[in-house]
Amino acid sequence: MRLNRRGLLFGTAGAAAASLAACGKGEESKQLTGHTGIAMPTTASDRWVIEGADLEKRLQALGYKTILEYGEDDVPTQIQQIQSMIDAGVEFLIIGAIGNTSLGEVLSEAKNKGLTIISYDRLILETPDVDYYASFDNYQVGVLQAKHIISRLGLSQDSTETFNIELFSGSLDDNNSQYFFQGGMDTLEPFIYGGQIVIPSNETEQEPTSTQQWDPVIARERMARLLDDFYKDEPLHAVLSPYDGISRGIVEALVAADFEPGSDDFPVITGQDAEARSLKAIKEGTGQTQTVFKDTRDLAEVAVNMVKAIVGGSTPEVNDNGTYDNGFKFIPSFLLEPVDVTAENYQEIVVDSEYITEEEIDNAPADED
Ligand code: BGC
Repeated sequence: MRLNRRGLLFGTAGAAAASLAACGKGEESKQLTGHTGIAMPTTASDRWVIEGADLEKRLQALGYKTILEYGEDDVPTQIQQIQSMIDAGVEFLIIGAIGNTSLGEVLSEAKNKGLTIISYDRLILETPDVDYYASFDNYQVGVLQAKHIISRLGLSQDSTETFNIELFSGSLDDNNSQYFFQGGMDTLEPFIYGGQIVIPSNETEQEPTSTQQWDPVIARERMARLLDDFYKDEPLHAVLSPYDGISRGIVEALVAADFEPGSDDFPVITGQDAEARSLKAIKEGTGQTQTVFKDTRDLAEVAVNMVKAIVGGSTPEVNDNGTYDNGFKFIPSFLLEPVDVTAENYQEIVVDSEYITEEEIDNAPADED
């Protein structure tokens, strides 16, 4: 396809910018082929594995070439992978960033070569070179987790009953973490001020509650310390956890400290991502009690539609222009809705929608591999 002159002359500023992205500075305009580099953060969690394959499949179905790489939570590796994609001549980058502020230099080169950069799920910060953001309402994720705790504990602001809760948050170098945590904290706050929620550790800020690289082992160790320091004689009623891997680390620490999953003394524990092992625990009542499902098929579709629109010379559809400021500008975003999942509705939400089969849930390994 030639550059769409009509789009350039009469389209929106976004369409013009998008079409111009086809050619680098001083280059002749050339036809876009949809060649896309997909830089994913890690294979350690199910969602990114599913999404990498899904993105490739969808792009290839449109006839576009793809390169898929996983940075395995190592920032220099991801930078090098993106560099190789640029060198291989991709026109689009779909990036699930590892370090949210580490990509400025490589993206500047990408931009100079005329690439379009889509920040995928996690917002890339402190660079002017991000074109679009495809993600979920990340604040709402935290709201759903906190609401689960409120409903399971039957919290009421009129009550004089108190409940002990501990808080976990995600990796500090992931922009999403603050949104998850803020959504959770804003929702729990009235009960903290009302005295119904007590946080015995007093670790209530993002930094002390954070979990570097979302690592379940770090979460397990922190939970073990909290149990040791504050729960020798006190009940623990709930744990706000931002992600299924972290939730399973928390459960491991509880089990090691003789808490019995499924018993009345076992805390309410939240999660995110609807991972098979966590769905199994939710279904069987053997660990966390909730997860937040973000339908990554829809997210992949949003990102692929952005590429497809630009290849076709039009402006990608966005539904939010004023939430995600990356330090340089508000990034045009398409945000999807997360969904609360418990033992009561997991079948309808994740099985009936064919995200996962009942067998995959049942056969999920009990331990981390
Ligand atoms: C994603 C979550 C995921 C976490 C750990 C976040 O950026 O939004 O879905 O649980 O990373 O991989």
